Amino acid sequence: MRVAVVGGHGQIARLLHPLLVAAGHQPVALVRREEQRPALEAVGAEVRLLDIEDDDVAAFAAAFRDCDAVVFSAGGGPDGNAARKRTVDLEGSLKSAAAASVAGISRFVQVSAIDVDRPVAAGAGEVWAAYVAAKRDADAALRASGLDWTVVRPGRLTDEPATGLVSLGVDVPRGDVTRGDVAAVLAAVLDRPETVHHQWNLVGGDVPVDAAVARASV
Ligand SMILES: NC(=O)c1ccc[n+]([C@@H]2O[C@H](COP(=O)([O-])OP(=O)(O)OC[C@H]3O[C@@H](n4cnc5c(N)ncnc54)[C@H](OP(=O)(O)O)[C@@H]3O)[C@@H](O)[C@H]2O)c1
Repeated sequence: MRVAVVGGHGQIARLLHPLLVAAGHQPVALVRREEQRPALEAVGAEVRLLDIEDDDVAAFAAAFRDCDAVVFSAGGGPDGNAARKRTVDLEGSLKSAAAASVAGISRFVQVSAIDVDRPVAAGAGEVWAAYVAAKRDADAALRASGLDWTVVRPGRLTDEPATGLVSLGVDVPRGDVTRGDVAAVLAAVLDRPETVHHQWNLVGGDVPVDAAVARASV
């Protein structure tokens, strides 16, 4: 498979690319700056330029050319800018899903966040509320898109080494998870068609990634 990764220079994405290569796939990293190219090519990704906020659906579809699946792993980041939750986390996902359809790609895996369907706690800040709303609405739109979607909703991300052990499921409670383990789950999901039309929470746990994905898909 050629796998287009939106947010291809993100921290999870950069851990995903080598896993895809090891599984015999070709990652296609979509990034917004030319200087991001060398590090990504060094781990086996093909690099294409795409600005999630500035580019339109036609440009997304062009960036997805010849690909068989899309992974949306972009985010506005911790810059405290509520507007970018909408323009990146929500509208970036909406444009990616629309462009996948235009490009004839049915498979779409989205990195979301845990508990975004729950009401935001009273007193939560504007940026957090915007983030939760963006992830919630992006997931709802993807589920209604007609694409072959899978939604992975990690808990708080850490940069500890991957453990290979996770807890994955619809009702898994909040917890931490390493970015490496999220990448491993994304790679496993892409290799398993039975994960289509599933949405799971993901935190660190005690079940090996492949077994967790297989178990959750039943
Ligand atoms: N932090 C947490 O605890 C947590 C928990 C659950 C879920 N998540 C979600 O998990 C996802 C991935 O996490 P991560 O740590 O891999 O995120 P990350 O490192 O912040 O990666 C996000 C990527 O999106 C890219 N991006 C942002 N705006 C863009 C634009 N206009 N055009 C092109 N690319 C753009 C960034 O590009 P640049 O590299 O150029 O900046 C960055 O590479 C995010 O959606 C995040 O919200 C996070």
